Amino acid sequence: MEVLGIDIGGSGIKAAVVDTVAGRLVGERHRRETPSPATPAALVRTMSELVGACAWNGPVGVGFPGVVRHDVVYTAANLDASWVGLDLAALVREATGCPVSAINDADAAGLAEATFGAARDRPGTVLLLTLGTGIGSALFLDGRLVPNTELGHLEFRGDIAEAYAAASVRKAKDLRWTQWSKRLNRLLLHIDLLLSPDLIVLGGGVSAKFEKMAPHLDPSLRVVPAVMLNEAGIVGAALAAARKDLPANQGATTGKASRKSPRRRAKA
Ligand code: BGC
Repeated sequence: MEVLGIDIGGSGIKAAVVDTVAGRLVGERHRRETPSPATPAALVRTMSELVGACAWNGPVGVGFPGVVRHDVVYTAANLDASWVGLDLAALVREATGCPVSAINDADAAGLAEATFGAARDRPGTVLLLTLGTGIGSALFLDGRLVPNTELGHLEFRGDIAEAYAAASVRKAKDLRWTQWSKRLNRLLLHIDLLLSPDLIVLGGGVSAKFEKMAPHLDPSLRVVPAVMLNEAGIVGAALAAARKDLPANQGATTGKASRKSPRRRAKA
């Protein structure tokens, strides 16, 4: 099945058509800057543009950086607070005419890694952390997602964990890799105390720099880098939508997600 995956991040929004069986992008990846302020109207407009840029007219899965339960946003720590309480899927559906489902962005990345990547065929307790503007978490027990765990908002060292060890903190505070990796290590040891995961997968842009962090991580932690890099969020959002069995098409109401490329329409 082909689904358009959209990954909303603190700095960029990315979209691409995904083959949800093979777990890979089948179309060009498009990116837009995250609007500032990231209000619902601005973000939905950007998502509609991306649907148009991908010439898409089928099911859409969105990964959102906040708690999302049954398509409704409950928190939006790094975006505009007016998102809280809104049905994200309904807004995007109204704007594009496409069937839409929404999920937390880290849960999306985790689903991709658990299905196709570093946590594939890994039973037990598996935790994926995404390190970016914030820290996202996705917890799996025997391959089954426990959604919205939000470990980036754990209280830690007088603040929340993501204010201490997100990848953005390294840049904002101009920390050396060693300094930042030690912060990350302290946080991982704390999380290990709470959950004793069998495996921790580190995702987000920094996973490509795993060799810089690895020497500073305690050997008792079972940590591996994510392998799907910046595609995990897109693939996972699409996968979550495919698993919901959304209808292939509810009829486009905007011209943008039109029929430029029938080849890319969903094979339901
Ligand atoms: C949000 C999470 C999100 C993470 C990564 C946090 O601030 O609360 O929901 O997964 O950032 O984007």
